[in-house]
Amino acid sequence: MKVLAVVATPRKRGNSRILVERFLSYASANSFVFLFDAYKEAVSPCRGCNACFNSGECVVKDNMQRWYPLIEEVDALVVSHPVYFYGPPAPLKAFIDRCQPFWFRRFVKGENLKTKDAVLINVAASMADNLFVPSYYIAKVWLNSIGAKLVSHLAFGGLEREGEVLSLKEILRRVDEGAREFFGAKA
Ligand SMILES: Cc1cc2nc3c(=O)[nH]c(=O)nc-3n(C[C@H](O)[C@H](O)[C@H](O)COP(=O)(O)O)c2cc1C
Repeated sequence: MKVLAVVATPRKRGNSRILVERFLSYASANSFVFLFDAYKEAVSPCRGCNACFNSGECVVKDNMQRWYPLIEEVDALVVSHPVYFYGPPAPLKAFIDRCQPFWFRRFVKGENLKTKDAVLINVAASMADNLFVPSYYIAKVWLNSIGAKLVSHLAFGGLEREGEVLSLKEILRRVDEGAREFFGAKA
């Protein structure tokens, strides 16, 4: 099984990074995990040039070119990010927007992309109303455009300091449970 893991925190021991690593530890031993670390990849923003509407391919030749085939061929995605002003951090939003060629292929050309399941893990500092709603919908429409179905959303507020999730047993338990369910269903 090939899994694309997407991490988008600038912090070395970010809460979202700790949780995605923990989640991935439940993937079966013969799984292959490709890790897209948004802050290390230097993927530039979409130019909105619509060149992909002709060719189905992006004309921006940067690190994203390496990820296009992987996005297509993986069997599952595990996406994790902190909430920044209710949405994904900028480097992840660039990655999402650069998936516009898939949107074109799927919804304009009517191509059948390989289907796959995805899980979204979110963390945030507050406990505000609707805190995770924008991130959920952004992920859902993006994942849909690449052929993936968002089957699970694990979202945790009250996390501010780097690494503090490690002391919160109930959150860790819920991530363990979510991971068993997600990978168990695919084994
Ligand atoms: C630029 C920025 C914007 C943020 N926006 C929000 C927000 O809108 N709501 C919230 O509850 N927390 C917000 N936070 C707090 C982070 O979501 C929180 O600290 C989270 O635990 C960071 O995850 P990480 O440790 O994986 O980086 C923001 C943090 C930063 C740096």
